[in-house]
Amino acid sequence: MNDIFLRACRGEEVPYTPVWIMRQAGRYLPEYQRVREEAGGFLKLCKTPELAAEVTTQPVDVLGVDAAILFSDILIPVEAMGMHLEFSEDKGPVLHDPIRTKSAVDRLVVPDTEDSMPFVVDTIKILRKRLAVPLIGFSGAPFTLATYMIEGKGSKDFVNTKRLMFQNPGIFSLLMEKITMTVVSYLSAQIRAGAQAVQLFDTWAGVLSPLDYRNFAQPYLRSAVAELRKEGVPIIYFVNDCGGLLGDIKKCGADVIGVDWRTDLRDAIKKIGKKCAVQGNLDPLALFLPKDEIEDRVKEILWKGEFARGHIFNLGHGIHKETPVDKVVSLVEAVHRFSER
Ligand code: CP3
Repeated sequence: MNDIFLRACRGEEVPYTPVWIMRQAGRYLPEYQRVREEAGGFLKLCKTPELAAEVTTQPVDVLGVDAAILFSDILIPVEAMGMHLEFSEDKGPVLHDPIRTKSAVDRLVVPDTEDSMPFVVDTIKILRKRLAVPLIGFSGAPFTLATYMIEGKGSKDFVNTKRLMFQNPGIFSLLMEKITMTVVSYLSAQIRAGAQAVQLFDTWAGVLSPLDYRNFAQPYLRSAVAELRKEGVPIIYFVNDCGGLLGDIKKCGADVIGVDWRTDLRDAIKKIGKKCAVQGNLDPLALFLPKDEIEDRVKEILWKGEFARGHIFNLGHGIHKETPVDKVVSLVEAVHRFSER
């Protein structure tokens, strides 16, 4: 078993810098497209353990990455909390009847993962028998899940989320508490089933000012991380557009901090300090550069990563669906070659 990724998460010595890619199982891979077609759509794919396991392993086989990430979506537990979820081809996820009132929050349940999302547990069990690299489980972080539940879809300004936060902080906090309980129980179930590390995706926390992050997102995230620490696996926390929040983010209790590409990795490490490892941070669209220029950027990121407690190479956010696969293959190979100790 290649455990280099887990060792880097813990800040231990590694023979080379491990690499995986956010959204590594996805539409840029023709192999993925085929299985998605066979499943009859994205949500069906998430809920069919044999096929979800197959697309989870594809990037390990095709790219040679050092970790696999469970194939699912951050909105799966939101559906289990009682919302009606749909993925439309052009608009992305849609959650019907967005949460704006106390009675809507009261109607939400804290789901039992084994009962209401058995396919997640089953997918993980299949994968642990099959994989020769560690398996990462994941969840949306409370704030990011709340944005989808309150907006009902993706948003640019998050006006409904911030309006609820500022005008009805009591309702907002009841919602966040329910989501936090769900996240803890969902990730604990993934770990019990065999996930060897977990990542919390806080994709939209970067839209908050540091003050609002500290008041409306961080307390819930910290309490989730504190609970999950008891499970004993590395915890990765990723915020897209994290630059202005790193001073607060480093106090979240996670083992690894994900860094997007807008912040220089050396500067990020100076702010994060030596207590956490880092993960990142190539611009996903840099994969459209010529190969030699990608390699220059890889070398620079690897060099900067040396200053951290540990470094896991990744993109600064999810891979774009139009990315040429051969560039991704050579990226992974370059990370391994240039970082060999
Ligand atoms: O990383 C992986 O390979 C594992 C699978 C994974 C998916 N979504 C599969 C997916 C993970 C970890 C996620 C997380 C996720 N989902 C996040 C957080 C990370 C991030 O990218 O910011 C968010 C915000 C979502 C919600 C979501 N799911 C959106 C906004 C969309 C539409 C955008 C898009 O890329 O289409 C999805 C759909 C989605 N999730 C796809 C995949 C492979 C594409 C669906 C398809 O095949 O049509």
